[in-house]
Amino acid sequence: MTQRPPSNPASRRLVLSRSAALIGAASTGLLLPEIVRAQSGKVRVGFMLPYTGTFAQLGVAIENGFRMAINEQGGKLGGREIEYFKVDDESEPSKGIENANKLVQRDKVDVLVGTVHSGVQMGIQKVARDSGVLSLIPNAGVHAATRGLCAPNVFRTSFTNSQPTRALGQVMMARGHKKAVWITWKYAAGDEAFEGFKESYTAAGGTIIKELGLPFPQVEFQALLTEIAALKPDAVACFFAGGGAAKFIRDYAAAGLKGKIPLYGSGFLTEGVLDAAGPAADGIITTMHYSDSLDTPRNKKFRLDYAKAYKAQPDVYAVQGYDTGLLLIQGANAVKGDLSSKPALYKAMEGATIDSPRGKWTMSKAHNPVQDIYLRVVENKENKVIGIAAKALADSGAGCKM
Ligand code: PHB
Repeated sequence: MTQRPPSNPASRRLVLSRSAALIGAASTGLLLPEIVRAQSGKVRVGFMLPYTGTFAQLGVAIENGFRMAINEQGGKLGGREIEYFKVDDESEPSKGIENANKLVQRDKVDVLVGTVHSGVQMGIQKVARDSGVLSLIPNAGVHAATRGLCAPNVFRTSFTNSQPTRALGQVMMARGHKKAVWITWKYAAGDEAFEGFKESYTAAGGTIIKELGLPFPQVEFQALLTEIAALKPDAVACFFAGGGAAKFIRDYAAAGLKGKIPLYGSGFLTEGVLDAAGPAADGIITTMHYSDSLDTPRNKKFRLDYAKAYKAQPDVYAVQGYDTGLLLIQGANAVKGDLSSKPALYKAMEGATIDSPRGKWTMSKAHNPVQDIYLRVVENKENKVIGIAAKALADSGAGCKM
């Protein structure tokens, strides 16, 4: 049966004017799913993270960290209960938009927490910009998210891809390595990490004699390691993460390069992989915004609580997930749980200082952390801090207009 307009002329006018308003809103892009959502009842939080593939462990650590922050508040956000939704994004960029829409359109989440992989993040960024849904990035470092494609409703609690490596070049030169080879997975995260490395290393007087790469998430490193042996650089610098990083570290040692050509990297190389990599990881030097061994009461308590809750050691991903929770809590408290009060919510999040296990950090104008970068070395399955490679480092935020 077709629906007819009500016969009463007054209510008919109301229906017509409402639909005219909706059509108007739709044509100006203002028909946002969240504006028709009630701001009572449970807050709907969606995780879009990798739960399978080479980054699976990273996704789990992020979710654990986020839940831990919320559980410290009695499991509530600004006084409201939470309902969680989950999508496994498989670190598959081609499904990024479709997966983000499962959470935004189908599950009608108030907040989307995701993701790890920079290519997948580009899909989330589009959906976030189109829908206006609050999007919190707990890892993926793709520059565009807080540069040219920045948005008032998108906040990152992790890093930009070039932030950790921007502190790496000077360190390597200071240690006398004048000629280096760079190696990475060829996608946004690796390429942008290279930008930071190249800038800092060449500014310090170093020469990059070769850039090597393989497609994500391939792990057939053998031919490239043979090439490195033949090139005989003073040192190697790299970006790898997750399961692939553990294999790269083991293969580097198995190829006979460990002890001969020092290995450096952005710190993801040695995060969450030290059990899997074993002694092959000893001596690797990295730059990163966190270290297991940070000797602060804040970090010690976090590590103890996390280990108790999840029977696992936390890593930088767990910290980023935790900080994502802390940021959202600060925002939600400022608006007493009414996440539809967007200007007040965003203002509170923009002004937040996050008291993180990594050390206190603040939000840049482009919504990316301003944070210290530590210099670390792997010793006995731990990332030990041996210095601060950069103090309060901010990304340029180039091209960001809110
Ligand atoms: C990324 O794709 O942005 C990415 C993935 C894993 C990391 C860091 C960055 O550890």
